[in-house]
Amino acid sequence: MEANSFSNPFGSFFFFLFLGILLVFTSAMPITNAKTHYHDFVVQATPVKRLCRTHSTITVNGMYPGPTLEVNNGDTLVINVVNRARYNVTIHWHGVRQIRTGWADGPEFVTQCPIRPGGSYTYRFTIQGQEGTLWWHAHSSWLRATVYGALIVRPKEGDSYPFTKPKRETPILLGEWWDANPIDVVRQATRTGAAPNISDAYTINGQPGDLYNCSSKDTIIVPIDSGETNLLRVVNSGLNQQLFFKVANHQLTVVGADASYVKPFTTSVLMLGPGQTTDVLITADQPPARYYIAGRAYASAQGAPFDNTTTTAILEYKSAPCPAKGLKVKPVMPTMPQFNDTATATAFTTSFRSPRQVEVPTKIDHNLLFTVGLGLNNCPPGASRSTCQGPNGTRFTASMNNESFMLPSSFSLLQAHQQGIPGVFTTDFPANPPVQFDYTGNVSRSLWQPNRGTKLYKLKYGDTVQVVLQGTSIFTAENHPIHLHGYDFYIVAEGFGNFNPSRDTSKFNLVDPPLRNTVSLPVGGWAVIRFVADNPGVWIMHCHLDVHITWGLAMAFLVENGVGELQTLQVPPADLPIC
Ligand code: C2O
Repeated sequence: MEANSFSNPFGSFFFFLFLGILLVFTSAMPITNAKTHYHDFVVQATPVKRLCRTHSTITVNGMYPGPTLEVNNGDTLVINVVNRARYNVTIHWHGVRQIRTGWADGPEFVTQCPIRPGGSYTYRFTIQGQEGTLWWHAHSSWLRATVYGALIVRPKEGDSYPFTKPKRETPILLGEWWDANPIDVVRQATRTGAAPNISDAYTINGQPGDLYNCSSKDTIIVPIDSGETNLLRVVNSGLNQQLFFKVANHQLTVVGADASYVKPFTTSVLMLGPGQTTDVLITADQPPARYYIAGRAYASAQGAPFDNTTTTAILEYKSAPCPAKGLKVKPVMPTMPQFNDTATATAFTTSFRSPRQVEVPTKIDHNLLFTVGLGLNNCPPGASRSTCQGPNGTRFTASMNNESFMLPSSFSLLQAHQQGIPGVFTTDFPANPPVQFDYTGNVSRSLWQPNRGTKLYKLKYGDTVQVVLQGTSIFTAENHPIHLHGYDFYIVAEGFGNFNPSRDTSKFNLVDPPLRNTVSLPVGGWAVIRFVADNPGVWIMHCHLDVHITWGLAMAFLVENGVGELQTLQVPPADLPIC
């Protein structure tokens, strides 16, 4: 259902006045055709059969993955989410800047209380200046395992892509499937303190593909015609695993990521951390046949268990000879990188550039250094062994700057901020690690146990921010996809080992760094991001591996209002769920 944005309740006088002004100006001014899109999202349990077994899966509108939203830059979305499931739920519009509309961002207990079973909430927001592929997902417990979908933002009507218009566009949502209820999986891990069970399959648009039991007949087919160029909108919507992505015998030209265009570059392999999107052009320049599209793990943590299976779809040339009945002609399979191929992952992530020179903030108001990593909490004496099933009788935890983030439960952070409710959070999140140590070396066990709390870092409207994200080798070093809500940031540099300002600052790309919402923090390394705090609200920054959020790998920025309405957070919608 769609309608024009003029269906607002103008009084008739104002309406005609408006119409008059509009008529006067239409001949002189370009008309913006911004639309408002209305959708109903019903969150509900739905029977879904994968890997030979049917589960009662939480879906949106009975679809897995959920519906694809297609809009133009500048459009407004109004999505009424109705919760008919037995779990609390919220929906996050991953990567949407939500300028002044923090109430629609979605992370549970950050910008809203959850939508209770039987409840509903309408998310209203406008896409401003973003084009490409984003996605939406549940932001409550591990529901996003199955509650997610694509959000495609095309250029404004009349505008075109900065590349030749593709013949076809296909969203490719990479996911993770548990042959279990994902909520049970995370609940068990939270109870025991152990790492949660790994997934049983990866999926492409919800289907595991030919290499799994009971899956072949539903393998996703992506059609292509010889000679044509198509756009694949690849999203890593998996929970806990970075993925390599390839199409057999075909090169991919990267043209966008996280709803920003990039300087096109060609590669045979992509690597996406959960949360990241990559738009690629693919040209059917090979002999007509069937080629596997494949995804499998980039597993950077040494010795940690991971799902080592491979998901496939099929790129099928329309003119490909039909496989003769009974005779199984296997599609061509790409050679995937080794699971621990950090060199390939890094070569890919460091290839991104903005299409042209950009305005990177250079005068920095807040120069921050955040350590990012795991930890182990010792169990108190007398604790039941069943709750201390982490390594050597500990419980897994994770932190930034030694602070393991705890969500509040009686108010959302944004509500507490806006209404001045005390006792919900503090604003003393440290600008630097409380102790300096060799972050990526052999870290003393005395530094493995973080504090727990709800600490925010306060920014004034318009402040310029640099964050050095520094991975640690506490317990194990690994690649972390770090996602910031409410903003896109420039990734000005990344590297391995400990960030060294005197050595590494000279390598900053302040000319054409890529603009993203999720940075793939190199294993045992660092990344430097910059942004301007021009969006008031409370914005969580977290590792997009859900297992790490569960352990507290998050913090939040509180960005104060600026001057005047356009720099001020809107008032909360009347139906905002309360706790
Ligand atoms: Cu896509 Cu807070 O996440």
